[in-house]
Order: sequence, then C-alpha cells, then structure tokens
Amino acid sequence: MEKGIIFDLDGVIVFTDRFHYKAWKKLADEYGIYFDEVINNRLRGVSRMDSLEIILERYEGAPLSAQEKEKMAEKKNETYKEYLKEMTPADVTDEVRDTLKELRKRGYKLAIGSSSKNATFILEQVKLTDAFDKISDGNNITKSKPDPEVFVKAAEFLGIPAEDCAVVEDAEAGIDAAKAAGMIACGIGDAAGYDRIDVRLSTFADLLEQFK
Ligand code: BG6
Ligand code: MG
Repeated sequence: MEKGIIFDLDGVIVFTDRFHYKAWKKLADEYGIYFDEVINNRLRGVSRMDSLEIILERYEGAPLSAQEKEKMAEKKNETYKEYLKEMTPADVTDEVRDTLKELRKRGYKLAIGSSSKNATFILEQVKLTDAFDKISDGNNITKSKPDPEVFVKAAEFLGIPAEDCAVVEDAEAGIDAAKAAGMIACGIGDAAGYDRIDVRLSTFADLLEQFK
C-alpha cells in the first residue's frame, strides 16, 4: 500500500521567515504600524491575508477598505518576491535533499502542503521541484491552516487516503491542520515542542528513522 509524506515548505524545507519579516516590516513602517519579530512568529503557517489582519491589530489610522488591504498585501508580496530572487540551491541543505531522495527510494510519495502562493517559485529558485510528486499550496485552497484543506488536497493529488499520509510541520497551525485531516503529525523546529504532535523530529534526517 502506498504511503504519502506531505511537507510544509517555509520553516521545514527552506527558511523564508527572515524575508517575510523584512517585507512585512517595510510595509508596517510605511503605515506607521508597530511590528516586531514576536508578532512575526504569529504569522507562521498563516495565509498572506490572515497575516495582514494580525499586523493590522496594531494599526491606528483611518479605516481600510478590502481593496486597500488587497493592495497592501500585494505590495508586501512584491518586496518579498525580490528577496526570494536571492535564493539559490545553496538555501536547501544536503541533509534535506538526501533525506527526500532516500524517502522516495523507499517508496514513499512526497508532496508539498504549503499555505504560500509562492511555493512553486521558491522550489524553482532552490531547484527542488523534482523532489516532490505533487504540490498543494496557497493557490489551490480557500481556507488556510489550521484548516486541513491544503493537506487534504495534497493527499488527493497523491491519490493516497489521508490515514496513509504523514505531515511534517514547523507551525502549530500546521500540526492542528494535520490532526484535523486525520494524518500523522510530525513536528520539527518550533512545532517539535507542541503537545499535539505524534512524532518529534530533532533533525530532518530523523524522518529516516520514522519512515523505514
Ligand atoms: C506560509 C508561511 O508558508 O505561507 C506564512 O509560513 C505565509 O508566513 C504564508 O504568510 C503565505 O505566504 P505567501 O508566500 O503566499 O505570501
Ligand atoms: Mg512552516
């Protein structure tokens, strides 16, 4: 029976946090909104528009229309994409590349399950597109993590039942999404200490101990 492993992208495969932070910070400064790294941590796994709403909790200016908010998010994304252009294959560790290769060799089907609408672009930048069988991302969902939609879609794309899929996540919202999808939730990085995880990963290569 085929098994699937679904990987979150930002914070698991690549580390784009600093780019998100710098891009949001630029926008927040323009609007005189207080924003710091602690607030930035709350944006992990959260969609672009939901992230903007979190940032706007500190906004004290005139009311903003939905159209203005769209414009703000677009502006942030333009800045963010400029940073993404700096990414190269060196932004993915050998540990990640080798582990993905070995999991595939063992017969697992691999997918990306990311809230980001830039997932394909990022994978192209770091030359990792071919490491995955399918990509489910911010472009094919209507509800962001902790809603399970992105992972449910990933499993559908792979053609593997949810109960035969595991998710690798660094964000609590992503672990909640994996649990809601009925999948095995593997926590890495920040999510390794979350009490809802099924599997704790100290390193990415620990996956090879878990998925024989
Ligand atoms: C997630 C990130 O992967 O993607 C979030 O963890 C981000 O921080 C979200 O807000 C949406 O990303 P994008 O690239 O569509 O703006
Ligand atoms: Mg993440």
